[in-house]
Amino acid sequence: MLSRRAFLSGALVIGRIGGALAGEPLRTAAAGCGRMFGCAISSRHLGERDFIGLVLRECGGIVPEGEGKWASLRPGPDNFNFAPLDRLVSFTRERGMAIRGHTLLWQDALPNWLKRALSETPGQAESILLRHIDTVVRRYDGVIDSWDVVNEVLGPDGLQPGPWVDALGIEAIAIAFGAARTASPSARLILNETAIESGLRAHAERRHALLALLNRLKSRGVPVDGVGIQAHLRCSEPIDQAALRGFLSEVAGMGLDILVTELDVNDAEVFGDPKRRDQVVADHAQRFLDVILDETAVKSIHCWGLSDRHSWLHHHPAGWRADGARTRPLPFDADLAVKPLASALAQAFAGARVRP
Ligand code: G3I
Repeated sequence: MLSRRAFLSGALVIGRIGGALAGEPLRTAAAGCGRMFGCAISSRHLGERDFIGLVLRECGGIVPEGEGKWASLRPGPDNFNFAPLDRLVSFTRERGMAIRGHTLLWQDALPNWLKRALSETPGQAESILLRHIDTVVRRYDGVIDSWDVVNEVLGPDGLQPGPWVDALGIEAIAIAFGAARTASPSARLILNETAIESGLRAHAERRHALLALLNRLKSRGVPVDGVGIQAHLRCSEPIDQAALRGFLSEVAGMGLDILVTELDVNDAEVFGDPKRRDQVVADHAQRFLDVILDETAVKSIHCWGLSDRHSWLHHHPAGWRADGARTRPLPFDADLAVKPLASALAQAFAGARVRP
């Protein structure tokens, strides 16, 4: 005999699955399990009415693809170019959407003047970093509710070498999180990492290194609120569901939020017609999503783009196919039609463990 609670929760799941299959927006399906669904967009696409219409229908929030990076914000040592980021902030505020910040400390997308300045003295590197984070994060305090404070800081042998780590070592991470907390006490401060999702040995090693880094930062009182799992999945890299589940459980056990921050599914090595490729992409993502959404510490899923019309993979060797066709990594195709990946997301949200 089903208890009333079990009956109602079963009915809720059936209702959510029904909604998902009926093509309700992904933001609605996500909200049904207490999460947010969003995507990365570029300000240069704000005038693309059909694409923006899809973003507004499907997403509860966005993350700027490039406008929050040093390369966009900092044309020179004494000036800030906020205009592109302000456009995206205005876009979200006018529509009641959430907006994430990406990213305050990364080894890529750095202007040349900065690389030269960081190579001079550690003291100068620290003051440049402090001024940047204080100015940028304070400007959007109360608006940008979640920041990728540090992005892709792990490398094969510990911290990823680059201008920041070469200048300041692990202190760069502590300085960045401390400055972001001071500038925006309410924002969720995230350490965003890539290549930790699959069963590859390199991914397993990186999961281990990330857990060690998180424990080290937490023991020092560094104000990390959560981990971003980028989830640039690749169909040729199988998901190790048991290992991923164990990793998520350890991160959640630290009291940290978990965000999927940049989901897309690279089908560069998948052959066959688009219909077959799209199903392989969806099935691959489903193995990842079923584990991810079984963890209640997971608060949101952002795709890195929404339509195959705009994907970084079309401009990067990682996404170039031997047959010359374009990769199809996102939930909607270039004509904005729904793909099996969108259905996989909807069904995963519908069957997800509901966040309390
Ligand atoms: O804006 C300039 C333009 O003026 C110039 O004419 C053109 C010439 O190449 O470059 C343009 O800048 C490009 C920028 O995207 C804006 O489109 C850069 O060259 C290009 O390197 C940059 O690529 C971005 C990349 O991060 C580096 O910032 C991708 O669009 C973006 O999708 C990618 O996103 C990253 C995340 O931030 C972190 N995780 C991995 C993810 C994929 O690499």
